[in-house]
Amino acid sequence: MLKTTLIKAAERAGSILKQYYGSPFQISNKEGINNLVTEADHAAEKAIMEIIRNDYPDHYILSEESGDMPTDSEYKWIIDPLDGTVNFAHGLPLCCVSIGLERDGEIIMGVVYNPFLNEFYFAQKGYGSTLNNQIIHVSSETQVEKSCLVTGFPYTYLDEPNGPIEVFSSLIRKGVPLRRLGSAAMDLCWVAAGRFEGFFEHKLNAWDSAAGFLIVQEAGGKVTDFSGTLYSPYQPQIVATNGKIHAELLLWISDSLPK
Ligand code: IPD
Ligand code: CA
Ligand code: CA
Repeated sequence: MLKTTLIKAAERAGSILKQYYGSPFQISNKEGINNLVTEADHAAEKAIMEIIRNDYPDHYILSEESGDMPTDSEYKWIIDPLDGTVNFAHGLPLCCVSIGLERDGEIIMGVVYNPFLNEFYFAQKGYGSTLNNQIIHVSSETQVEKSCLVTGFPYTYLDEPNGPIEVFSSLIRKGVPLRRLGSAAMDLCWVAAGRFEGFFEHKLNAWDSAAGFLIVQEAGGKVTDFSGTLYSPYQPQIVATNGKIHAELLLWISDSLPK
């Protein structure tokens, strides 16, 4: 039943994003420069919350545009109705819906749906991860130098004047292919699917990563903060890898951070 609600909400939101995509829609700015929110973010969020509230009126919801809506429930839905809003606003199909479901503080299910590439990722704790119902696994590469990596940057870059660019620059200078796609949830799923060996970012919010974190873990990957501590979506740093390059990537990151 929880899974049915989760999938229904993601599919509905995905079809709303598709309706808006490529046609004119309202865009406004949040704090920072180019931190956008569109009509589509709000419409998708409304639809997701309606579906969840209809099935589970007493559950806790944390959603990017509407904020924290606590209840006493052990269940908490963590929603990013549109991850990759800047891409979406520019007509780039690298964006998705992301919904994670937490029970007693542990993420137990997650879905990331990109309706433009027709990619539907799902994970349930202990049951593996799937892409369009096919089991997926992280890659088997063991060296950072032979890896393809992905990262992202915070909107409020001035809050982090050195870190992200320093790490980016150091890996690029060493010749490691390092991409910046603009959707953390897609980045995580593409690690889970074995397309990237690793993803790292300095400053994410819980809604960016709650679902993707479980999808990487259940695909056999490892997710921590920069110090190697098991990941929590309630702190900003993330390193998600195939597991085999994890320790080495943590070293590359800590060596490049300004002292
Ligand atoms: C953003 C994207 C981006 C990441 C930012 C996020 P949004 O989410 O995931 O890849 O670098 O930190 O805020 O604003 O498009 O939902
Ligand atoms: Ca996001
Ligand atoms: Ca968003």
